[in-house]
Amino acid sequence: MVENSLSPASITSNLETHFVGQRVVYYPSLTSTMEVAKQEARQGAVEGTVIIADEQTAGKGRLKRVWLSPQGNIALSVILYPSVAYLPSLIMLASLAVVHSIEVVTGLSPQLKWPNDVLINRKKVCGILIESNVRGDIVDYAIIGIGVNVNLRLYDFPEIQPTATSLSEELGRDVSRLNVIRCLLVEMERLYLASAAGGSIYEKWRDSLVTLGRRVYVKSGETIYEGVAESVAKDGSLLLRHPDGSLSKIIAGDVTLHD
Ligand code: BTN
Repeated sequence: MVENSLSPASITSNLETHFVGQRVVYYPSLTSTMEVAKQEARQGAVEGTVIIADEQTAGKGRLKRVWLSPQGNIALSVILYPSVAYLPSLIMLASLAVVHSIEVVTGLSPQLKWPNDVLINRKKVCGILIESNVRGDIVDYAIIGIGVNVNLRLYDFPEIQPTATSLSEELGRDVSRLNVIRCLLVEMERLYLASAAGGSIYEKWRDSLVTLGRRVYVKSGETIYEGVAESVAKDGSLLLRHPDGSLSKIIAGDVTLHD
C-alpha cells in the first residue's frame, strides 16, 4: 500500500539531514510552491525549508511555461542561501539528487538532458526550476523547485503523453512519494555541503548528460541553433559547435536531440 499523505512529520521524522527538510510547510493545494517559497524566504525562513503541495493550480515551468501538477506527483521547493559563486551548482546538484533518488527508490535508470530535464526512456519524468534574487554579489535567496511525475496516469493527460512519463507508468505500479522525497532531500544536502566544502559536482553532472556529443537543435529565445552539443561550462551553459566550426555558449534554452 503506497501512502497518500505527505504530512510534514512523515517527511521530517528521523530525516538524516542537518537542515534541508528539517522544516516542512505542507499545502493540500496551492498555486505554486515557488511563490510561497519566495514569500517565506523574504520573511527569513530558515535555510533548507521545504514548501510542498499535493497539487498546484498554477505550477510554473521553465521559460514561463505551465507545469502540470496534479495529485499523486511531487511538487516541492527548497529555500537556500548560497554564496553567489555557488549558484550555478544548484541546478547540477538538484538534477543529480533527483536521478539518485529515483534510482535508489525504483531501480529505474533516469538520464539527464541539458539543462535540467530528467528523462526515462526519452520522456520527461521531472523538471527543475531555479529562481533566485541576487543583488550584486549578494544572494538574498535561491529556490530550487522540483516536480516529479510519480503516480501520474498519462492516460488522463493526453496533451503531455507524447513527451512525458511517470514512475508508475514505467514500473506498472504506484511508487511511494515519501521515499522519493526523503531520499532526495538527504542527497541534496549531501551534495550541497560537499560543494560548499570545495568539492566539485560539475564533472559528475557533465558526464551524466545524454546531450553531449550528440547532434541537437537548441531553441534559445526565438532562435533555433543546430550543431553538436560539445560540452558544458562550469557555469552550466551549453557549448554548441556549429556546422561552420564556430562555438556558441548558450545560457538558457531547450534541446531536442537528433535521432
Ligand atoms: C521545467 O519546466 O522543466 C521545470 C518545472 C518545475 C516544476 C516544479 S514543481 C515544484 C515547483 N513549483 C512550481 O511551480 N514549479 C516547480
